Amino acid sequence: MPLTQHCTTLTQFLIEERRRFPDASGDFNSLILNVALACKSIARAVAFGALGGMLGNAAGAEGADASVNVQGETQKKLDIMSNDTFLHVTQWGGQLAGMASEELELPYQIPSQYPKGKYLLVFDPLDGSSNIDVNVSVGSIFSVLRAADGIEDVKEEDFLQPGSQQVAAGYAIYGPSTMLVLTVGTGVNGFTLDPNLSEFMLTHPDLQIPPDTNEFAINASNSRFWEEPIKRYVDECVAGKSGARDKDFNMRWIASMVAEAHRILMRGGVFMYPRDTKDPSKSGRLRLLYEANPIGFLMEQAGGRASTGRQSIMEVQPTSLHQRIGLIFGSRNEVDRIQAYHNAPQ
Ligand code: AHG
Ligand code: MN
Ligand code: MN
Ligand code: MN
Repeated sequence: MPLTQHCTTLTQFLIEERRRFPDASGDFNSLILNVALACKSIARAVAFGALGGMLGNAAGAEGADASVNVQGETQKKLDIMSNDTFLHVTQWGGQLAGMASEELELPYQIPSQYPKGKYLLVFDPLDGSSNIDVNVSVGSIFSVLRAADGIEDVKEEDFLQPGSQQVAAGYAIYGPSTMLVLTVGTGVNGFTLDPNLSEFMLTHPDLQIPPDTNEFAINASNSRFWEEPIKRYVDECVAGKSGARDKDFNMRWIASMVAEAHRILMRGGVFMYPRDTKDPSKSGRLRLLYEANPIGFLMEQAGGRASTGRQSIMEVQPTSLHQRIGLIFGSRNEVDRIQAYHNAPQ
């Protein structure tokens, strides 16, 4: 489609946002554009599917049949390719003091030949990996934090900042179309990748989540492990008007949190991956720094909520890089109801 009518690109959006900060250096914009380039590169690899030789599990070290990450998960080839893409496309730019990734046990040091900068980039390079080999939407999630001044070698504690400290957050969803959804703290905007121009075009300005919904998302196979407040909430959704609710509900579960988050941003909904007794540490499956916090920032910026079940995700003080946490997010009236059930006298 020729650009005969006005279309705002991601670059233009960032430049116009930057005008709010007259003395801005432009470092932040360069970082976001590099992240966007990494997502474009991953989108292309995902689109090639089996033709690109990137399906299946990554080969393990000698003898091991597949490589396993610090999470104890078998790594897909695309997990590793996506991780390497994020590192190599962003490390040179001079905006970063260091990085952290789901796929790296330790923080990533910026190679000495590159200048260091004032931001930290934290990311889940490929979310929903279990869906790659069955061609279901997957995504990448990223979060930008400020680094303390004068960091030489970045340490774990440099990343242990509550979600409220995030400077920006977003995700790319590799679906029927590739989109980048971004907040820089002034609301949430969605950009669709034009495959011909390879530009992200602003197609969904100022996204707002409907405060109510009749659609809930949870992996119901874990129900025997749930805590009482979640059991009560889900039972009430399933009972609908025949029970305590004034409407009937529908259920979705994609097993790619980015895809659930996108659906919820588009039409409302509530997502639950609560802490449960399945995991002996009872801390839940999802990771705080590069899944819960960035998605939580987006949800709050779009008028929704994100909670541990008991408190806002954004208030949690992280204690470790790969810390897991229970996560509930989406339409604010439903998240508030779930939080009220958790905080009611048991
Ligand atoms: P990742 O692929 O980055 O490890 O994350 C997968 C997460 C999240 O995307 C999804 O909602 C959840 O795992 C699905 O968990 P179950 O397979 O237990 O349903
Ligand atoms: Mn994983
Ligand atoms: Mn993930
Ligand atoms: Mn992942």
